[in-house]
Amino acid sequence: MREPRLTGPLPRRRVRLTGAGHVLTCTGPERGPLTSWEQLGRHTGVDLVIRHELWGGWQLEWLGPTGSAEQPHADATIDLGGRLLLPGLIDCHTHVVFAGDRSGEFVQRLNGKSYGEIAAAGGGILHTVAKTRAASVPELVEAAAPRLQQMAEWGVRVVECKTGYGLELASEVKILQAIAVLRQRFAGQLRLVSTAMPAHAIPPEFKANPEGYVALVCEQILPAMRAADPELAFVDVFVEKGYFTVEQAEKIAKVADALGLPMKAHVDEFADLDGVQWAVEQGAASVEHLLQTASKSLEILAKSDTVAVGLPLTSVFLREPYAPLRQLVDAGALVAVATDCNPGSAMTTNLVLAMQMAVLGAKLSPQEVLRGVTRCAALALREPGGYTGRLKVGEPFVATTLDLDGVDRLFYELGVGPRASQVLTEAGIA
Ligand code: NIG
Ligand code: FE
Repeated sequence: MREPRLTGPLPRRRVRLTGAGHVLTCTGPERGPLTSWEQLGRHTGVDLVIRHELWGGWQLEWLGPTGSAEQPHADATIDLGGRLLLPGLIDCHTHVVFAGDRSGEFVQRLNGKSYGEIAAAGGGILHTVAKTRAASVPELVEAAAPRLQQMAEWGVRVVECKTGYGLELASEVKILQAIAVLRQRFAGQLRLVSTAMPAHAIPPEFKANPEGYVALVCEQILPAMRAADPELAFVDVFVEKGYFTVEQAEKIAKVADALGLPMKAHVDEFADLDGVQWAVEQGAASVEHLLQTASKSLEILAKSDTVAVGLPLTSVFLREPYAPLRQLVDAGALVAVATDCNPGSAMTTNLVLAMQMAVLGAKLSPQEVLRGVTRCAALALREPGGYTGRLKVGEPFVATTLDLDGVDRLFYELGVGPRASQVLTEAGIA
């Protein structure tokens, strides 16, 4: 590969991208099995022309053979030096903003204690809640920033960030404030999508009165969070034994609906409480985890627009089975893949490793996984900022350039992962 090179004057209104080894547009079918890169729109020997729009973003104007006479005139050219160009990767499920760490608990689990036992003894999520409540906005920002920086280096361009380690009004709003600061700090590099998840666990002060906490979430916490963050995009709830029931989730969904926010739901992580059926009936954007999902839910998802989000590194980290992602794709469901980055069940920022384990552990094909971190992940986030998770003429252009000469290598080098070249973001192409 050659050094990537930008030539041309400022301001740049139209830029030609040339010299990509492969371009993968991810414009193929959204559902069903995929077994070849051609199904996902692999091209060689093509140029792209992108145009800067008045609203500040870039749009793909043209894609065609290098040297074609139909290519629109551009003010500047970026030679990608043989690198792989694909839609900007999306990590559509993270809990990246938190304080403290749980490495001690991790080792206890490896020596036989269960996630449930640790949580019942006041550890688990509640440990991170105590640390997060005690942290200031700047402390939360400084804790999360290196994690987001790592994500950007893997080629991620969009990150969903959940709250849920505050579990009281002021602390949940504080996490949103930290996300807002990080949104500014990473502007031009990462788009942060915020999700309100005060229903992540029952806080200790409501241990004897979970209904009281649900009422507080509905009457005060969610409306305050909506008011605090104009960019708030979703409400999520952990439907699980010992956390929230479907009936409680239903109350939360009613409030989310009144606030104009679509739902997401953590379901079937440890027990199947029929959360999938409920979430699909709600028209939820996505259901996440699905480790214990019963086969009847596969059909329900296949007939819906609710995206099934697989989190294979959570399975690895918890030594739990994989979600039935293979069966979900075969049934015709929309399937995305994400990291679940969080201190208790997936302490990782590495989306490429999640993609590799989705292939090796959960038995998806490399093509299905790439669709799962581009197009299907964009659907799980309802096309944030208009970004559709694909490279398509007439749509917003958000892209990743990887230091790889071919797409097969992306899955091949385990645990190492390719680095994203920052040539596009450095040229101001966000
Ligand atoms: O997605 N399932 C609930 N929430 C996280 C775990 C949070 C934690 O253990 O801190 C998850 O796995
Ligand atoms: Fe999660």
